[in-house]
Order: sequence, then C-alpha cells, then structure tokens
Amino acid sequence: MAPIQFGVIMIPFQLIDVAGPVDILCSSSVPYLRGFGNPGLAERGIDIEFHYIGEGMDPVTHNSGYKSLPTTTLSTCPKLDYLLIGGPGPDYLKSIPPAIASFVCERADEVKTVFTTCTGGIVASAFGLLDGLNATTNHEAMALARELGPNVKWTAEKNWVVDGKFWTAGGACAGMDMMAHWVMENYGKDIAEAGFAALAYEPRDVDGKQVILRRHASE
Ligand SMILES: *[C@@H]1O[C@H](CO)[C@@H](O)[C@H](O)[C@H]1NC(C)=O
Repeated sequence: MAPIQFGVIMIPFQLIDVAGPVDILCSSSVPYLRGFGNPGLAERGIDIEFHYIGEGMDPVTHNSGYKSLPTTTLSTCPKLDYLLIGGPGPDYLKSIPPAIASFVCERADEVKTVFTTCTGGIVASAFGLLDGLNATTNHEAMALARELGPNVKWTAEKNWVVDGKFWTAGGACAGMDMMAHWVMENYGKDIAEAGFAALAYEPRDVDGKQVILRRHASE
C-alpha cells in the first residue's frame, strides 16, 4: 500500500497542536519502530509521509517566536489523505488569508479525515466546513467559536468530537489524545503503545480519563 499522505497547513498554530499529534504518528511509524528495536511491530507500523503546506516557502512564525519551514505550497501540494489544522491565535482567526481558506475547503473534500486541534476547529468553522456538525475547539475559546462559527453545534463536554470526516479536539493536549485514539483504532493498541512508550506519554480518553495501557495492566 502507498504511504499515507498527511498534510499540515502551515499557519501560526501553537506548536504542540501540531507537534504533539505529528510526533504520535511518527513514533508509531515504520522507521521509528524499527529504530527503537521493534522490528516485529514495525511491519504493521504507520507508513506515512508528512507535507507541511505553506502559502509560499517562507518560514512561519509561531506565537512563541519559533519559526517553522513549509515543505510544499498550496499550489504544489500532492493529493492528501488527511489534513491537520492546528490552532492559531485570535488575531489570525479574524483575518485568515483567502488562499488558505480556499485550499482547506478544496482539500477537505479530497481527504478521508480532517483533524483540528485547539482553535483549528474555529479555522474550519470560519469557512462553513463544520456547519450543522457537532464539534469542539479549545474549551477556553467557546465564545469566539460561537461568534465565528455560529452554525456549528459546539460542545465543550468532550476531549474531542467526531462527526462525519471531521475530528475536532479541544486544547493542544486533547489533540494528542485524539490522535492517540486514532492510532489505537486504526493500527491496534500494540503499535500505538510502542509509540506512546517512546514518548513516555499516557493518553486520556474522550472523557478525559486515563487510558489503561497494556504495560500497566500487566504490571
Ligand atoms: C451530535 O450531538 C448530539 C447531542 O449530543 C447527539 O445526539 C448526536 O448523536 C451527535 N451526532 C453525531 C453525528 O455525532
């Protein structure tokens, strides 16, 4: 099977919104599992290529002053299977560049799943993509979410919400938990947990309860 084509839209998101989920995927990927001495598991690991999609190839400056570099652009990005939208700050949310908006809308059609973390849900809602759907975003940003996405059924009860192809998570760490859950569902707990172990990470479930990992269950 061809590797999964996983796109990240390069907007000024909070780093963990993207770095967390991406590292969870990466830590359960074929080369990583192999490198960490899990050759038996590696064959069933995630076969994935990441694309970091900028308006151009210029660096993006994040809230903390950190700069990141796109690997492709809105016009050169290959066909994608998944798209991840991290959460930018309020100023950006109120003036999202039209080129980003039209790219996200087009690719939302193309992909199997759109993941949003933190205020990335508000980005998707600003284009009408979440209209009529259940969704969440950073639970501290609900007022802004209702203002910019008035037709979305926003909820702040869950760590993340799945409706159709949209997986929307709360704040940054809820986004990690959501991606952890996606890996457990799609690749099995053994593959997922090998990745979590390499990160010394213990995910929570959709209600915020600690997931019981196999390495704890057998202790
Ligand atoms: C949306 O939320 C409502 C209320 O919690 C629930 O009854 C419904 O099943 C949800 N729809 C989907 C598609 O998850």
